[in-house]
Amino acid sequence: MISLSGKELAAELRARTADRAATRKVRLAIVTVTDDPSSAWYVRSLSMAATKVGIQCEIVRDLSALSTLDADGVILQTPVPGDRPAAEVAAAIDPERDVDGANPVSLGRLACGLPAFPPATAEAVVRLLDHHGVEIAGRQAVVVGRSTVVGKPLAHLLLDRDATVTVAHSRTKDLAAVTLAADILVVAAGRPGLLRPEHVRPDTIVIDVGTNTTDDGGLVGDVHPAVAGRVAGLSPVPGGVGPVTTAVLLHHTAFGL
Ligand SMILES: NC(=O)c1ccc[n+]([C@@H]2O[C@H](COP(=O)([O-])OP(=O)(O)OC[C@H]3O[C@@H](n4cnc5c(N)ncnc54)[C@H](OP(=O)(O)O)[C@@H]3O)[C@@H](O)[C@H]2O)c1
Repeated sequence: MISLSGKELAAELRARTADRAATRKVRLAIVTVTDDPSSAWYVRSLSMAATKVGIQCEIVRDLSALSTLDADGVILQTPVPGDRPAAEVAAAIDPERDVDGANPVSLGRLACGLPAFPPATAEAVVRLLDHHGVEIAGRQAVVVGRSTVVGKPLAHLLLDRDATVTVAHSRTKDLAAVTLAADILVVAAGRPGLLRPEHVRPDTIVIDVGTNTTDDGGLVGDVHPAVAGRVAGLSPVPGGVGPVTTAVLLHHTAFGL
């Protein structure tokens, strides 16, 4: 089994981003109004990652600034307060600066094959497959999860790369029947241990997008540990999609659309 680590790819993307940021001023704005500790941790680590590659990072605690910020990249940190869906709030972000593909216009453009920033995690999955030489065209790809930030945009990206795509979700009746058809299986459900040995074939490539914190402060994916060794390839958690996602966000910010 190959381990589809994201560390090398993330380092390559960071190096290219740093080269770019060395020749022109690049600015990232993160808009956050949540006190949620894991969000605060994420914002801090993203801001440090930006600084390391020479991108100036500003943290803005005012949602109404979303539409007026002129940074190269603007990110809306979720959750947002109240009942409004995050995608509706993100509609205020200029699509040219929407480096995490959060504005519904970005997803719509993506679906139509027009230039747009895909959500960084969805793009990270495709980049990780490419980096490890996994053929996408003509293969059966199954995405478990249909969120606006991961599953749906990823389905579009894989379709654009000529995969035959199936999307499963919590109402899928027989998950194993769907996942056993997968050459490429991406799990983005946020359910630790969801994907078990009975869901996979020995020749399947599995990308684990899940990031779930354990009671002792550790991080685990959505793939049960017993799956390791029973598939052709598996991305680790941590060290798989996560570092590539951060690197893609910064790469988007430095290079634009
Ligand atoms: N590595 C990274 O950089 C990164 C970035 C973003 C997210 N993540 C992680 O990826 C995971 C998914 O994130 P998200 O924002 O997409 O989560 P989300 O909005 O909660 O969506 C989860 C999706 O999984 C589906 N699902 C839940 N339980 C299921 C089950 N038992 N069987 C099949 N499908 C099931 C849900 O189906 P329904 O639609 O029917 O409810 C939903 O579509 C989380 O662990 C998150 O932390 C990682």
